[in-house]
Amino acid sequence: MHYIEKKKKNIWWPKKSFSFSVLVVLFIFVVAAALPFTFGILSPHILRQRNIVVTVNRVSKELSFEDIHNEYNFMQFSEQLKAMPKPPYIIFYDSSNLDIFLNHICNLEFIPGALSRLVAISFDTPSHLILKEKYPNIPSVVINLDSIKKTLPESYENRRYIIYQLVLLTRARICASLALRGISFWAMQQDTLWVENFDSMDLENRYPDEYMLFDTVGNEQFGEYDRMFGWICGSTFFVRGNPTTYQFFYQIDSFMRSHQSPDSSIMTYLCGHRNYRCHRLPRWIISSSDYFRGTRETTPVMIQVDSDQTDETKMESFQRANFIFRHDNGTCDRKSVHKLRDAVRLAFPEKLKLLDQSPYGESMFTQLHYMYKHIFNIDRYNNKVFLTVHYTLV
Ligand SMILES: *[C@@H]1O[C@H](CO)[C@@H](O)[C@H](O)[C@H]1NC(C)=O
Repeated sequence: MHYIEKKKKNIWWPKKSFSFSVLVVLFIFVVAAALPFTFGILSPHILRQRNIVVTVNRVSKELSFEDIHNEYNFMQFSEQLKAMPKPPYIIFYDSSNLDIFLNHICNLEFIPGALSRLVAISFDTPSHLILKEKYPNIPSVVINLDSIKKTLPESYENRRYIIYQLVLLTRARICASLALRGISFWAMQQDTLWVENFDSMDLENRYPDEYMLFDTVGNEQFGEYDRMFGWICGSTFFVRGNPTTYQFFYQIDSFMRSHQSPDSSIMTYLCGHRNYRCHRLPRWIISSSDYFRGTRETTPVMIQVDSDQTDETKMESFQRANFIFRHDNGTCDRKSVHKLRDAVRLAFPEKLKLLDQSPYGESMFTQLHYMYKHIFNIDRYNNKVFLTVHYTLV
């Protein structure tokens, strides 16, 4: 009896040390919570990122979704698209890439059924007027970003990147507006080569149950892309206009104003939700620039061409690769479109990596890391990691 009582007493913690341990735990929590803030304040990189997100959010208010959606010319333009027999191919452009766009029109001119579906949205008035003069039959409209760009001084930190984000954000708002009006469409880019007749593939009817169709990055020939399975490129995509796809682009809009992420990685992330019904197109139909890294036994129907060399313009790199379809006098060159398949095979030899000389290997640790992610189904294809892909750019 005496013994038991004594033991019981020992089990009781003294009151003093109990509150002390609570204090210790609290202290650890407070330090852990304060650490990111401390580093955040100290790190110039995080400050730069914050400045970008805050600025994009601020300047994007000057041309809101409602401003675009209810603008008279844009409403007229939307009505025009609605009346078209097939979903339009929309090209977004401005003065900086008008030359590539005019070249692209010459590519489409020799592909039956393509040009009649082409429509254009410009982000500045001068390029819009030039296109209107040269191609009055192509439905086109301006969503003017020039006045917003002028509010940012030339010396503004990361100005180019902020404008790049603003353009993509505006594109997302335009997509949201069209989807809200129930208009289905293809968003496309002028730096995409049409090697074959993409139009005749009739993809939007081949996948009737999918709400959106996307291109992806990567190349089957390289193991390093296996972990990036399904990463969207975002240069060519189809949208079936309905309330769900409106919601999709509305989400991209809010995400881009609170995170420093490109729209393609946000699309990939959102597509993780199956209700959005996203479908990835195979790379033999549409490839990104990663195609040029590998051997060229097969030629995709369409290829998007990135210029990653800073010492030449995009037009110069197109010249180097024989991707020019337009004469200086403005007429289109049928022969160069017919020779495009050969040009693609020979283009950018410097990008071609020797496959057997650079085998992709993963360390034991990396493999275990992915096995763990796979077993617990945690971001298996790095879709969340993809959201941070632009962090090193600023
Ligand atoms: C335009 O230039 C090309 C190549 O120089 C030439 O073959 C063609 O005849 C010219 N067309 C016109 C209308 O001048």
